[in-house]
Amino acid sequence: MTERPYVIDEMISAKAIAARIEQLAQEIRREFADTDKLVVVGLLRGSFVFIADLVRELDLPVEVDFMEVSSYGNAMESSREVRIMKDLRGEIAGRDVLVVEDIVDTGHTLHHVMGLLRSRDPARLRCIALLDKPSRREVSMKADWTGFEIPDEFVVGYGIDYAQRNRNLPFIGSVRFT
Ligand code: IMP
Repeated sequence: MTERPYVIDEMISAKAIAARIEQLAQEIRREFADTDKLVVVGLLRGSFVFIADLVRELDLPVEVDFMEVSSYGNAMESSREVRIMKDLRGEIAGRDVLVVEDIVDTGHTLHHVMGLLRSRDPARLRCIALLDKPSRREVSMKADWTGFEIPDEFVVGYGIDYAQRNRNLPFIGSVRFT
């Protein structure tokens, strides 16, 4: 893929992300205070930084598992067809599960994953998304917790990529073509 030249404008600082994660972790701790062991499911690859920071703020017994969900087509458009490229290693029937997503955009990915996991009969199933672009929604989907609502801009950093680049930026930035 040929990349057009672009710059990245900081939208959410590393400090603001850390502060928000502390608040979210408190709410999640309250929700799952009675759990034996929470299964925290990261959706690869975009959530890998978020899940790493989030689980370290959760003072709960946690197990971490991952799923990889495909996104086909143009690098800047989400795919409406959702495919599971890598499934969970563990069973979730009867377990408390928290799904961790980077961005809810059209809503198709999270909607599909939550439906699939619900069919496996977990005791409790919740989801958290770091970012939400409500103006882009095509299917009704709202995470139980959201870090930040953002406008319809293409973002990178803190695990999120553009054509596999920029995942290692410590902040969230928006891509502006020059
Ligand atoms: P949805 O199925 O449209 O909700 O798309 C969710 C997925 O699309 C996210 O997990 C991201 O992988 C990708 N995505 C959506 N918006 C952006 C963005 O602004 N930057 C990078 N990836 C994005």
